[in-house]
Amino acid sequence: MTATISRSVQVNLRESWWIRDIEIPTRVVLAPMAGVSVQAFRRQGRRYGAGLVCSEMVSCAGLEHRNERTLGFLRVASDEHPLAIQIFGSEPGVMAEAARMVAAAGADLVDINFGCPVRKVTKTGAGATLLEDPDRACAIVEAVATAVDVPVSVKMRRGLENGSRACLDVGPRLVEAGAATLTLHPRSARQMYTGEADHALTAELVSRVDVPVIASGDVTSRAKAQAVLATSGAAAVMVGRGAQGNPWALREMVDGDRAEPSREEVAAELILFIRETVRELGERRASGFLKKFYGWYLGRGRFPRPFKQELVQLDSTEDVVTRLFAAAPGAAEIVERLEAELPDPADEILLDGRGGRTGQSPVRRRFTRATCAAESRQARAAGPEPWHPRSAGT
Ligand SMILES: Cc1cc2nc3c(=O)[nH]c(=O)nc-3n(C[C@H](O)[C@H](O)[C@H](O)COP(=O)(O)O)c2cc1C
Repeated sequence: MTATISRSVQVNLRESWWIRDIEIPTRVVLAPMAGVSVQAFRRQGRRYGAGLVCSEMVSCAGLEHRNERTLGFLRVASDEHPLAIQIFGSEPGVMAEAARMVAAAGADLVDINFGCPVRKVTKTGAGATLLEDPDRACAIVEAVATAVDVPVSVKMRRGLENGSRACLDVGPRLVEAGAATLTLHPRSARQMYTGEADHALTAELVSRVDVPVIASGDVTSRAKAQAVLATSGAAAVMVGRGAQGNPWALREMVDGDRAEPSREEVAAELILFIRETVRELGERRASGFLKKFYGWYLGRGRFPRPFKQELVQLDSTEDVVTRLFAAAPGAAEIVERLEAELPDPADEILLDGRGGRTGQSPVRRRFTRATCAAESRQARAAGPEPWHPRSAGT
């Protein structure tokens, strides 16, 4: 079965759905993407209608060794929820410990990566290789699900080799082991991103499990989202490349709003993205990281091509922001409004290089099981987030 686009298909993408006791307010999920899914990307995704956002994959070994850069992936802002943080690794015990840290950092779901096809990851026995080692994959899910109270999700590919159907055998076993939802990107690891995502396989997986399935791959428009949902029976679609530099695609999917953004809106979103990313990564890392985003935002005929080249060559992100304001003066008002809506950075949980939470506070604390538990108790005593169904007593 192919996910053909039919005019008669009308799935409500604004409808909420549930992963255990977590309400996901729309049927569009923002994909985890390494080198892309920074906090600014996730926050923006939520603003434009993604019901659930996800961090990029975080190395459980990096967390185990309290690697400073890895800990930085555990920043959670109050306007990101519901948020999944994705971890990868191959040792159940280490993954369980990483999951505890992820949950303590404020993630609403712990997502496990069984899909990464990149050699650097697969050669360590992690990512997509686990689809060929179902016993170990199940042991990981079981250890993680036992370690945390929040739901555990798994994201996977169809299998390692082209035409593989491994996901159909492994998927139900992962659910038995404790996965509360499965995301399928129905390409093989060998395929990387070539060919098409075969959502006929997603439909087969849906028929084999009794948890919600998220369909990932090649969803770039409302019509495609509706077709994939209708033909596969998935609970939601996941959008990755289609949302790079293009949050308006999410709005189009969720609300059917096909209006192209003005130059001012594009410049404003990019400026906010730059400022937020500099705050998260620091100027030195952010200036290199951001370069690919200039093309993503300014392409699609929104700005002349040489303008992007000009931005890429500027020395600092501040120069880029100045140039964007000069090219679209009306952006200033929009940026001011967007920045006023951002939550206080002091509400954010940050982790320092030694694994302690810092926030904006100069006080550095050790990140131990005891402090994690104490923080969780505090968070529970403070009550659930307003978006959380528990706060409405349901
Ligand atoms: C640059 C890039 C980085 C990615 N990083 C991750 C990752 O960290 N974890 C993961 O599970 N999938 C990752 N993916 C896969 C996406 O989440 C998604 O499944 C895939 O891109 C197919 O969806 P799309 O066609 O909407 O892009 C990545 C994809 C891209 C393009």
